[in-house]
Amino acid sequence: MSLLKRLGGTAQPPEVPVAAPPPPLPPMRGPAPIPLAEVPVTVIPPEPRSTAPASSHTATVDDSLPATDPKRMLDLSLWVVDRIQASLGNQSELKRSPESEKLLQERFARTYQQAGVNLPDTAVKHLFTMVCDELMGFGPIQQLLNDDTVSEVMVNGPNQVYVEQKGKLRLTPVRFASDEHVLKVIDRIIRPLGRRVDRKWPMVDARLPDGSRVNAIIPPCAIDGSTVTIRKFSKNKLKVDDLIRFGSLSPEMGEFLRACVISRLNIVVSGGTGSGKTTLLNVLSNFIPEDERIVTIEDSAELQLAQDHVVRLEAKPAEVDGSGLVSIRDLVKNSLRMRPERVVIGECRGGETLDMLQAMNTGHDGSLTTLHANTPRDALARMETMSMMAGMDLPLRVIREQIASAIDVIVQQSRLDDGQRKVSYITEVQGMEGETVVLQDIFKLEMFGKTPEGKIQCEMRPSGVRPRFTPRLKAHGFDLPPSIFGTVLPGQRR
Ligand SMILES: Nc1ncnc2c1ncn2[C@@H]1O[C@H](COP(=O)(O)OP(=O)(O)OP(=O)(O)O)[C@@H](O)[C@H]1O
Ligand SMILES: [Mg+2]
Repeated sequence: MSLLKRLGGTAQPPEVPVAAPPPPLPPMRGPAPIPLAEVPVTVIPPEPRSTAPASSHTATVDDSLPATDPKRMLDLSLWVVDRIQASLGNQSELKRSPESEKLLQERFARTYQQAGVNLPDTAVKHLFTMVCDELMGFGPIQQLLNDDTVSEVMVNGPNQVYVEQKGKLRLTPVRFASDEHVLKVIDRIIRPLGRRVDRKWPMVDARLPDGSRVNAIIPPCAIDGSTVTIRKFSKNKLKVDDLIRFGSLSPEMGEFLRACVISRLNIVVSGGTGSGKTTLLNVLSNFIPEDERIVTIEDSAELQLAQDHVVRLEAKPAEVDGSGLVSIRDLVKNSLRMRPERVVIGECRGGETLDMLQAMNTGHDGSLTTLHANTPRDALARMETMSMMAGMDLPLRVIREQIASAIDVIVQQSRLDDGQRKVSYITEVQGMEGETVVLQDIFKLEMFGKTPEGKIQCEMRPSGVRPRFTPRLKAHGFDLPPSIFGTVLPGQRR
């Protein structure tokens, strides 16, 4: 017999006025436990595999598992969610608010009682949190998103959820009930943003209202299950002092980079995925003097500038029919007609690199950007490749000359094996010699070994060479002492 029949209930319990005082959470004793294995199972049609809300996701609850087993709790929470959703009718999309929470508390109490399970107090509270997260949040990953120590959440299908904490990846015990459950959460994330994902176009990039960056990719492209990656928006973006305190940057490097930005040098921040490029770009951009007009261009607005005079532009994905795409490249071209004094490009990924180089070479100096590369030399190669993507058919030598005359400094950001994020090089682009672009390291991270705890021991050191653009820094009032560069004057010891 189904649980529903045993309980003599109806699919849609009578509506209860929202204003009714919420009864307390159910008592721990109650009707004789009813085997949850008999909870009706709704089969979700496999096609189309879109993220349309999976309204009935009733799970089977395995009665043989201990009462507070995580899987049993998850299935029970989904069972409760289904019942509550049915009772709410078309009101089932709830926004987090005290009123919604009150309403849920009352519906939860009834449904829990109907389930006839007997859980300890703490487990009932936990179940209620799970139900709230399911109905008003992003399901099983909501608690990870609430945790300030977590910087990134990675869902690799229903059975594997990783987080990044203190620079290290960690597998969590968090699980989804099924791939449909992951899809349901993806839908909750992207639908309010007017985005969708389905078998035909199975990937999406989006930004949450709080600024967090989301990427979702689902089958058939994600072979082992729907995958979600959320880079959480850090409410307090790291400042230069934080980077110095963490040992990501020495005070001398900080002072040097401040001088470079104020002196309108063109700077590229290079680094691997998640190495801290955007964070460093944000720090550098905040050195731009208050009286300059700044235009920022990003795929997904992450930068937080303290200045007043900032125009923020964001690329626009194509509509479902493929029309209406506004790329970073379009925005770079447009920004040059906006009388910018500084152009800050979140990341160069393609043909916009050539437009940026041309802008830097034609009076828009003081521009800043980031790109993916593992060393300053790689960054040059990457700029060459990306410039070719502009489709202008320029000879390599011309592109190389553009790079050599446009870029003044490459700052390399690295994420070390032990999770530390460091600036590993500050390198000057000195110009061309024959066919080669000449690079000169000004600062470099030297590594010595590892502590017994596995922490990499390293130190940032100046190379002893002053940059050729020192006169430009001087012209802007920065007479940096030779000691910053580790330069040895006659009669001095290093
Ligand atoms: N120097 C640092 N020390 C500690 N944490 C850092 C540092 N720099 C960045 N982070 C943290 O590392 C995470 C990734 O940073 P960020 O978004 O800047 O990387 P990214 O290189 O731009 O990544 P992506 O390649 O995905 O664009 C963020 O959570 C950020 O707060
Ligand atoms: Mg970034």
